[in-house]
Amino acid sequence: MKINSAEFIISNSDVNKCPNEPLPEYAFIGRSNVGKSSLINMLTNQKNLAKTSSRPGKTQLINHFKINSNWFLVDLPGYGYAKVSKKSKSIFQKFITEYFEKRQQLVSAFVLIDIRHEAQKIDLEFMQYLGESEIPFGIIFTKADKVGKTKALQLIADYKKKLLTSDWSEMPPYFITSSEHKTGREEVLEYINTINQD
Ligand code: GTP
Ligand code: MG
Repeated sequence: MKINSAEFIISNSDVNKCPNEPLPEYAFIGRSNVGKSSLINMLTNQKNLAKTSSRPGKTQLINHFKINSNWFLVDLPGYGYAKVSKKSKSIFQKFITEYFEKRQQLVSAFVLIDIRHEAQKIDLEFMQYLGESEIPFGIIFTKADKVGKTKALQLIADYKKKLLTSDWSEMPPYFITSSEHKTGREEVLEYINTINQD
């Protein structure tokens, strides 16, 4: 899919204030620092559309980006990092949960996983939550440039095994990406394109 336009629309912590147009949207969620904001820049071919940082905890709001004037990418704060206070952590959790529970326009979430890390409890629990809430999701493995290709395939095989021995009977759609090398860009965009046309 060709990206002709990508524009920032609004940031907020209140799902009721998100754009009210009935356009399909796709939200990136995952541990802080996993590369959610970088992936939005990579997919849209823009350097600073979404704010990124080497320090975890950069994205603190729900951010809507309108793509090709007819669908949205949504950047969310990360979960599971130590550097913010307990209080702001629980505020994030509350509005992230509200976003997933209330947002009718959400077509699919993508759970981002750093390819170097083996399956972690917090991610498995979040996928469990999405499953129980009947929210479709895909998995995006990030930072594939940090490992070799063979290693990447082996890590994904291990991940699959872990997922299938927890509560899942099948692996959700998944993608291997690197925002540094622009790996996986077409695959993710084509997947979204296919769903948008259903
Ligand atoms: P929060 O907003 O804090 O939840 O983090 P985030 O998930 O949005 O991560 P962000 O995109 O800000 O990236 C975090 C760090 O990882 C930055 O230093 C990025 O440059 C780096 N990073 C992101 N994607 C990649 C990638 O594909 N490869 C490499 N090598 N580094 C990456
Ligand atoms: Mg971010």
